[in-house]
Amino acid sequence: MSNYSIAVIVGSLRAESINSKLADALIALGPKDFGFRRIGIDYLPLYNQDHDENSAESVKHFKTEIVQSAGIIFITPEYNRSIPGVLKNAIDHASRPYGKSVWSGKPAGIMGASVGTTGTCMAQQHLRNILAYLNMPTLGQPEVFIHIKEDFFDSHGNLNEDSKYFLQTWMNHYVAWIKKNAEIPAT
Ligand code: FNR
Repeated sequence: MSNYSIAVIVGSLRAESINSKLADALIALGPKDFGFRRIGIDYLPLYNQDHDENSAESVKHFKTEIVQSAGIIFITPEYNRSIPGVLKNAIDHASRPYGKSVWSGKPAGIMGASVGTTGTCMAQQHLRNILAYLNMPTLGQPEVFIHIKEDFFDSHGNLNEDSKYFLQTWMNHYVAWIKKNAEIPAT
């Protein structure tokens, strides 16, 4: 059993999402004492504050997944120079009711891939702003702004050697960061 359970949240719902492929490739680089779980956000309803005290089962389930995690990784595209609405929706759900956010204190790592040359840097900066407000310590360096080109993945979704080395370096920093910052949830 892994000592550190990490929730991996992808900000794209697209079946052929490059960020989803990136998440799978990154997870494969994790060490043995870490367990990475992809947490879906597509089944969540649109956030409505009227339902804070009587939230849907899907929302309760999502929040439980976060509570049970020692850390979070957000892997997101950039939509119109910010994060996609579906990701913000999920973040908002788990931040409420007021005073009962399940994000607080969870250490986070962020990265993103885009077909654009800026590689999600604006989206990530917006995300950092949100996570700071939610009291989530967030790994500052190394930053990962990926401009996807044809050879980033092979036809099986495997990383090329340079990309693998780059992401392995990020993973090593993230793992050290989690070990330093995580409060491991009781099971
Ligand atoms: C985009 N895309 C995009 N790319 C970028 O670098 N900066 C941006 O602001 C935007 N804006 C944007 C808005 C919307 C509504 C869409 C659908 C797309 C392009 C985006 O990088 C590309 O579609 C990626 O492939 C999306 O990531 P996934 O779904 O492949 O993970």
